[in-house]
Amino acid sequence: MKTEQNNEMSRRGFLKRTALAGAAICIAPTWGKVTAAEKVITGESAISHTTIPSGMAAVRTQRTLGSGKAAFTVSAMGYGCMGLNHNRSQYPSKEKEIALVREAVERGVTLFDTAESYGYHVNEKLVGEALKGYTDRVFVSSKFGHKFVNGVQVKTEEDSTPANIRRVCENSLRNLGVETLGMFYQHRIDPNTPIEVVAETCSELIKEGKILHWGMCEVNTDTIRRAHKICPITAIQSEYHFMHRTVEENGVLALCEELDIGFVPYSPLNRGFLGGMINEYTQFDTSNDNRQTLPRFQPKAIRANYRIVEVLNAFGRTRGITPAQVALAWLMNKKPFIVPIPGTTKLSHLEENLRATEIIFMPQEMKELEDTVAAIPIIGSRYDALQESKIQK
Ligand SMILES: NC(=O)c1ccc[n+]([C@@H]2O[C@H](COP(=O)([O-])OP(=O)(O)OC[C@H]3O[C@@H](n4cnc5c(N)ncnc54)[C@H](OP(=O)(O)O)[C@@H]3O)[C@@H](O)[C@H]2O)c1
Repeated sequence: MKTEQNNEMSRRGFLKRTALAGAAICIAPTWGKVTAAEKVITGESAISHTTIPSGMAAVRTQRTLGSGKAAFTVSAMGYGCMGLNHNRSQYPSKEKEIALVREAVERGVTLFDTAESYGYHVNEKLVGEALKGYTDRVFVSSKFGHKFVNGVQVKTEEDSTPANIRRVCENSLRNLGVETLGMFYQHRIDPNTPIEVVAETCSELIKEGKILHWGMCEVNTDTIRRAHKICPITAIQSEYHFMHRTVEENGVLALCEELDIGFVPYSPLNRGFLGGMINEYTQFDTSNDNRQTLPRFQPKAIRANYRIVEVLNAFGRTRGITPAQVALAWLMNKKPFIVPIPGTTKLSHLEENLRATEIIFMPQEMKELEDTVAAIPIIGSRYDALQESKIQK
């Protein structure tokens, strides 16, 4: 499951069965069917300087997104910060949220994901406050590209003009209290600004030291190739989980592998659904939750799609793991250049999610899971028509 020897091993040899004599491998006994001599995760490296007490739920490995000058080594699982105060219903007090983010730092997380648009600076400011004093140890990603006028989003338009990218960057740096952003993503494609212009602007920001790396969300392979030629991309951040596997079908994941670009699946638990805590009676906060607008989160769809949670439940039960852990471990076992960013407002869920970084599935387990889930028709689209129109096909 976790080794100290695998640093130099190729990313491509992920999940190879290896019989490493004398390997110092730590495997939690509950993951049962895997034996130490059988398994090594390649493409991961242990965090050598860690002072995390043994036994504590934590992420103890790193993964590298991107390659060459674009290489960015971060904890193998990040933290999606959006739901700390935006779009995921009720949330705890600011003090509790700050304490939770700092727990994540103590437990090895080095990648925190936010965006200008999450409450228009509100989420960035919270993340900035939470990470004050820790930014020498961690990285923050933020995103540009949505159009705002006087703080209100113009939902029918996007704005990736160089002037807007620069404006968002300055705001993000100020809100987060950092000199450099770890990653800066284009949130959605702007049909009026060629991707070459966006890539060139990000290249300039990298040279100026305002951002370390850049990436894009929900783009197609043509856009990735064009952008990568101008300024090497570190990661693509798009939706990917058991109920939305488009990046496998449209070639994006394969292209990331070909070009050595990292992949950051957003909403890796399908906005909480795959954690099994949402059912047809769940009430979403009407003022702070976009799930109520999504076809897949309407009661009928939730009821029908719950069969998928039951598959994860059944699979996890015999291995002593939860549906959320099955969902996250599946992503992480898929490719070594994948770094999921689940979000949570609870320490118990943070612990549960971080423990998923230690789970290895054998190829036949991956196949069994995929085949069983694929046999279940998914009801309801993930986005409404307007949001879907922003996704590059
Ligand atoms: N690039 C983009 O366009 C884009 C779009 C959406 C999101 N994102 C990024 O992706 C991050 C994560 O996305 P997300 O919040 O939409 O979805 P998610 O991570 O799939 O799910 C978050 C939800 O799952 C629940 N949850 C977390 N761990 C759980 C567990 N172990 N068991 C049961 N439930 C659990 C959380 O509730 P509790 O608080 O109760 O744990 C929360 O409501 C965001 O924070 C954001 O940074 C990016």
